[in-house]
Amino acid sequence: MLPRGGRIAILIAVLVAFEIQTSSSQINRASFPKGFVFGTASSAFQYEGAVKADGRGPSVWDAFSHTFGKIIDFSNADVAVDQYHHFDEDIKLMKDMGMDAYRFSISWPRIYPNGTGKINQAGVDHYNKFINALLAQGIEPYVTLYHWDLPQALHDRYNGWLSPQIIEDFATFAETCFEIYGDRVKHWITFNEPHTVAIQGYDVGLQAPGRCSIFLHLFCRAGNSATEPYIVAHNILLSHGTVADIYRKKYKAKQRGSLGISLDVIWFEPATNTTNDIEAAQRAQDFQLGWFIEPLILGNYPITMRNRVGDRLPNFTENDVALVKGSFDFVGINHYTTFYARSSDSLFGDLIGKVLNDSLADSGAITLPFGEHLKPIGDRFHWISVCLVRSLIHTNASLYFLAALLGLVFLTLHHHLPKTAGKFYMVVHSTSRDEKLNELHQAKVRKPSRHHN
Ligand SMILES: *[C@@H]1O[C@H](CO)[C@@H](O)[C@H](O)[C@H]1NC(C)=O
Ligand SMILES: *[C@@H]1O[C@H](CO)[C@@H](O)[C@H](O)[C@H]1NC(C)=O
Ligand SMILES: *[C@@H]1O[C@H](CO)[C@@H](O)[C@H](O)[C@H]1NC(C)=O
Ligand SMILES: *[C@@H]1O[C@H](CO)[C@@H](O)[C@H](O)[C@H]1NC(C)=O
Repeated sequence: MLPRGGRIAILIAVLVAFEIQTSSSQINRASFPKGFVFGTASSAFQYEGAVKADGRGPSVWDAFSHTFGKIIDFSNADVAVDQYHHFDEDIKLMKDMGMDAYRFSISWPRIYPNGTGKINQAGVDHYNKFINALLAQGIEPYVTLYHWDLPQALHDRYNGWLSPQIIEDFATFAETCFEIYGDRVKHWITFNEPHTVAIQGYDVGLQAPGRCSIFLHLFCRAGNSATEPYIVAHNILLSHGTVADIYRKKYKAKQRGSLGISLDVIWFEPATNTTNDIEAAQRAQDFQLGWFIEPLILGNYPITMRNRVGDRLPNFTENDVALVKGSFDFVGINHYTTFYARSSDSLFGDLIGKVLNDSLADSGAITLPFGEHLKPIGDRFHWISVCLVRSLIHTNASLYFLAALLGLVFLTLHHHLPKTAGKFYMVVHSTSRDEKLNELHQAKVRKPSRHHN
């Protein structure tokens, strides 16, 4: 049964959570403290579809997913879950599943089709209806302001996150959202996984806008993997700080909400107990979580990053520090898995430095779901496949040839794979709406879904 030819794009995190749930049947809702918020989460681009409806402008993900060769199964998100048109049904499902909250993102190009300038009233109206429908069912909206769908107009005009102009334009968009929705939205997440934006979008080029210089520009025409990820992350941090400042000064007192940021965080275990690998695990963490959390808490990048990246790492001025340091009420942790880390300095650091010359090379840490003698970090096969697939899309995506090869071997050898396992790796992967919703629904009957924010 495939109503309205619906296709669903699933957040990888949801799938991973589902995998974990099926193995831990002892956990139920009573295992969690009182007041623990259960919710589901999505992003506008992956869920809404309706990319041309009601005056929405294109985002970098529209352009990217329609570029030949960028998406492995040639799918796109033109329709996706079509949540734009079917949110009433989806909210009923959430209610039915016993959810307390829904985290979703507001699509910047729906509000400002041109990135800046004229507000698109139809887009504004959509989220008003959506938020009201959630609240009517007692479901609390948690709103992400940036879940990767940069208006294409801003990419075309000034290369988006590469230009400091983005700070003002993002702040305008964010403030528009506070003004219009802040009476009802009490939880704001400025950015979802900025590390992924910097790495996937501007270091390895596997995600929009697909810029990189690794392997002598073999995969991307434009980009500089040695500098751009750092510039992008810097502008994101400054944008976050600016928006947090606006919220605190103009909205927080009357709207009584809170504002934070969501970071993607893998844990790293040293592959061996040598000092080199122990330090490599710490560096891997510095180049992932530390890159964002240290400026947010301490006002500067981790010392390992400053030492290793040198002049390619932007500096924070005193004003920047005042904006960024302490600019959050909460930090969201999106945790997917754990990898082994080993030092690449001793191994083939020079080679990696020359061939990649990117932030992976800078970190001097290779991270994989395998330790010594290819010992997998987990013991269940499904779990390994998830690790592998994550390794395709995450920090060490620069090694995706190796991972893809290993992935193929495993996919061929093993038939206990979840139906979708081979397809996780691109964000717009699709499967049938009903099939996936049914699975999730059944999972919930046994145990609730984990809150993801
Ligand atoms: C979009 O913005 C640019 C820069 O401000 C402007 O030149 C252009 O006319 C705008 N386009 C539309 C369709 O509003
Ligand atoms: C490193 O040492 C710790 C503590 O002794 C141990 O738990 C861990 O398994 C060791 N790791 C490796 C990869 O040998
Ligand atoms: C940042 O500041 C350090 C220390 O003052 C300086 O050595 C470095 O060149 C600066 N980096 C940039 C990109 O300006
Ligand atoms: C890496 O890229 C930077 C920035 O483009 C450049 O200055 C540096 O020489 C490159 N390093 C290597 C080893 O190619």
